[in-house]
Amino acid sequence: MTARRILVTSALPYANGHIHLGHLVEYIQTDIWVRFQKARGNRCIYLCADDTHGTAIMIRARQEGRSEEALISAMRESHLQDFGGFDIGFDNYGSTHSSQTRQFCHEIWKSLRAAGLIVEHDVTQLFDPVQNTFLADRFVKGTCPKCGSADQYGDNCEKCGSTYTPADLINPVSTLSGATPELRTAKHLFVEIERLHDWLTEWTQSGGHLQEEVANYLKGHFLVEPLRNWDVSRPAPYFGFEIPDSPGNYWYVWFDAPIGYIGSTAEWCERHGESIDDWWKSSSTEIHHFIGKDITYFHTLFWPAMLKTAGLTLPEKVHIHGFLTVDGEKMSKSRGTFVQAATYLKHLDPSYLRYYYASKLGSRLDDLDLNVEEFVNKVNSDLVGKVVNLASRTARFIESVGLSAEYPQDGGLFAAAAGQSEAIAAAYEACDYNGAMRIVMSLADRANQYVEQTAPWTLKKDPAKAAELQAACSVTLNLFRQIVIYLSPVLPRLAKQVGELLQKPITHWDEAQTPLVGTRVSKFEHLMKRVELAQVQAMIEEGKQPSPEATPATEPAAAAPASPWNDGPEALAHEPLVAEYCTIDDFTKVDLRVARVLAANAVVGADKLLQLTLSMGGEGTRNVFAGIKSAYNPEDLVGRLVIFCANLAPRKMKFGVSEGMVMAAGVGGQEVYLLSPDSGAKPGQRVH
Ligand code: MSP
Ligand code: ZN
Repeated sequence: MTARRILVTSALPYANGHIHLGHLVEYIQTDIWVRFQKARGNRCIYLCADDTHGTAIMIRARQEGRSEEALISAMRESHLQDFGGFDIGFDNYGSTHSSQTRQFCHEIWKSLRAAGLIVEHDVTQLFDPVQNTFLADRFVKGTCPKCGSADQYGDNCEKCGSTYTPADLINPVSTLSGATPELRTAKHLFVEIERLHDWLTEWTQSGGHLQEEVANYLKGHFLVEPLRNWDVSRPAPYFGFEIPDSPGNYWYVWFDAPIGYIGSTAEWCERHGESIDDWWKSSSTEIHHFIGKDITYFHTLFWPAMLKTAGLTLPEKVHIHGFLTVDGEKMSKSRGTFVQAATYLKHLDPSYLRYYYASKLGSRLDDLDLNVEEFVNKVNSDLVGKVVNLASRTARFIESVGLSAEYPQDGGLFAAAAGQSEAIAAAYEACDYNGAMRIVMSLADRANQYVEQTAPWTLKKDPAKAAELQAACSVTLNLFRQIVIYLSPVLPRLAKQVGELLQKPITHWDEAQTPLVGTRVSKFEHLMKRVELAQVQAMIEEGKQPSPEATPATEPAAAAPASPWNDGPEALAHEPLVAEYCTIDDFTKVDLRVARVLAANAVVGADKLLQLTLSMGGEGTRNVFAGIKSAYNPEDLVGRLVIFCANLAPRKMKFGVSEGMVMAAGVGGQEVYLLSPDSGAKPGQRVH
């Protein structure tokens, strides 16, 4: 069999939010597929990058008083740390804000121009005069022109379901500044994608590039009517790349985002002395994109159209997955189920989630539910109970003698499991990980029956049965190793540990065909612990704790935007700066005081919180729980002054009542900076 040359991507996460368990469905799904391809001996590279451009990043950077570059570089570090924690093995992690991506934007643009596909129209849009920027539909709120419900978004009403343009809204307000938007007209550049309609119908409906349900969906929803021109430019100010032949206009974030796949490949090529043309202009490379269903049309209509026009390689397959729900519901901050990757890693082993997702993922687009009890059961009964137990019940018994020099009689067990290799491989190849896991667990069941029957722990007691003991343990450990090879795309850490235990690294899928003989067995160390429901609950509890910043972390966009032709997902992922103006009367309702920290202590069972005892000068103290533990040692706080909201309604928490709130600046719950007055201020003084 000749090795395939495969280029794999996951969607580029937005640089304005942290990685959460929903994202990880995709990165784990892709990583498993890549590790599988590599184990099979195929040439495979896995590329990703941060998606850095657009209004959301620009506004957030302004809001935080730093440059976009500073914001995206901090976010990049955080993303890389999260991905590393889950063993996501990118071959390159780039950025759309790179010279490589810019260069390919220029090239693809040139091709679109040369093909005569770019047209200009005036676009009249709402404009925020305070933030000095045009407003995507989702940045405008107002009263529905149809039913009169207040507080509706600029493109559709959640109450009556009608759709309209933001200019129709009654009393529109910019969610960025609270200002009343004005109508302004500007020139935009469009791709006349309709001219590729026939070709797109052909490409999406044949050749197996899309899952059948996706092909049908496109046919039924988009391809039945003429495709509207795609608006790919935004007037300044916009954080992105300026369009070379249209000064003052920038490429819309969704134009350059997929080009980031090529930019990231180019970085990898530079590091490895390879030619980018071998990967993006070669019929012998297969390109595989993994994405979520919300960004289908960008990857199945616009992107193929761009590649086709530029003479680049089209994707062999776009693999589309569904969305994560937790216990049957959309992830939610208030229920604590909006769990960030970093929070998970504080409480639980990443291998658990990798296995759990694998056991749930099929090749269709169904949403995937993380059920907390099922998670605990699967990890404990499958991973620990069926797989790891094979080693923990036998490895110690043959530490001194090693594996038998010849593979013992096992009643055909090893050969039968070796015979399943191609069925398991076919399931991985088709992204039917659930199917693969079921076959592997049935092999584990048979191996466990073998251990029960041979009962090494009984043989161990009789010195005359040393040879039988070695044979039983050699068989079991070989069946175990074979299972771990089949699981290695999902559980790379376990595969590595087993390589060390049996003193032979696991490197290739076909190693499951031949038993290991005569090797030594290392001293047995725990491979994986059982998970307790309480650990999962503690993680969810932490997700519920208030974050120290003034504004809550962004919730993800769960729904698809109304139309791919407007600023959908980018805008949805944005965190509004100001919902509405507050009056001086509103402001004076908030009783802000200078206070002194008398005592500060960690809170048992809460990873983020410190318990503070505050004095406001007079008699009596206040008890406050503050989410600042990640940034401050309790002992460093004692004696210092803080700014404190004294009339916040007391809040009952699991650990006691919090009687107010200390003020801090911060970013996404990751950075915390307590506010303090200049020297001379006295506890109790009011902040005006
Ligand atoms: N930046 C765009 C992608 C550009 S690709 C050229 C984007 N970013 S994202 O951060 O919002 O999402 C990244 C990926 O994670 C997407 O494929 C998205 O579908 C997926 N998911 C985000 N939330 C998810 C769930 N709750 N569940 C499953 N996948 C989810 O879209
Ligand atoms: Zn309405």
